[in-house]
Amino acid sequence: MSVIVVGSFITDCIATCKVAPKGGETVRGLSFNTYLGGKGANQAVASIRMGSDTLMLGAVGDDNFGHAFIDCLKNEGFDTNYIVVDKKNPTGTSLVTVEESGQNRIVMTPGANTAYDYNLLKNYENEIKNANCVVTQCETTLDVVVELSRLCKKHNVKYIVNPAPALKLPDEVLDGLFLLTPNENELGIQIAKNPETLDEYIAGAKEMLKKGVKNVIVTLGVNGSLLVNNDGTCHIPSFKVKAVDTLGAGDSFTGSLSAMIDQGYSIIDAMKIATAVAALEVQKPGGIPAMPYKEEVFKFLEKAGK
Ligand code: RIB
Repeated sequence: MSVIVVGSFITDCIATCKVAPKGGETVRGLSFNTYLGGKGANQAVASIRMGSDTLMLGAVGDDNFGHAFIDCLKNEGFDTNYIVVDKKNPTGTSLVTVEESGQNRIVMTPGANTAYDYNLLKNYENEIKNANCVVTQCETTLDVVVELSRLCKKHNVKYIVNPAPALKLPDEVLDGLFLLTPNENELGIQIAKNPETLDEYIAGAKEMLKKGVKNVIVTLGVNGSLLVNNDGTCHIPSFKVKAVDTLGAGDSFTGSLSAMIDQGYSIIDAMKIATAVAALEVQKPGGIPAMPYKEEVFKFLEKAGK
């Protein structure tokens, strides 16, 4: 069993504040911290901590943040020989504000992430061929997303795309895609509409099915998640928890969902488990440091009677 995550490494510089500043305004922060994150790295750590053999492909800069990522991934049990150390670009960064409500705002500067050469993926065709699931997001380049689609189709591997930050995916990626995991806004970008109700999310997801996507899971934040496929629709509610930082919640969901699919769970069971992972993740600050371990997740589910 294995998962390959191809994606971003980003250092999150997070200031918490009561309410984030409007344009031209300065507010006093409550705390400041740097955490290792990025959608790709968050998803990869979520997957490995949920017990899947996980490989991460991506690029860091040759700087302190980049070296910290390599040490961190080594400690998590990854083979870090697959990480490119780019000499020309710094490691990606995100400037993040987190309000007391848990709401975040992010300015992401990709740096080395967009320097990842998609041609490198051909070198890992064998690893891709032997994986159960390949996962990516949109913090590297569209070329990476497209090349992975080609390789996954060639080898009949389950390809999972989290279209975040929001990017309209070309039809060639949607055609035959195993799973797309947009939030409401990212779904809107795919269909060039602004869906706002459950019925509109379902209609939007059905447009994706028409383009050849096999499963769409729309993540709805506190409202849970919605699966739409040719068998029908299924809504999984979220757990009521007190969020201290929602950064990385979507990544914890997609990463753990991929791990559970890799481990043979049905999509609906994988969604239930991933919902618990996200509920635990939002109760701690940061991306990677907040990812829960499998044991903790199953205890949480048992306590919740699920
Ligand atoms: O999804 C959250 C992640 O996206 C953060 O770790 C931040 O780096 C942004 O890229």
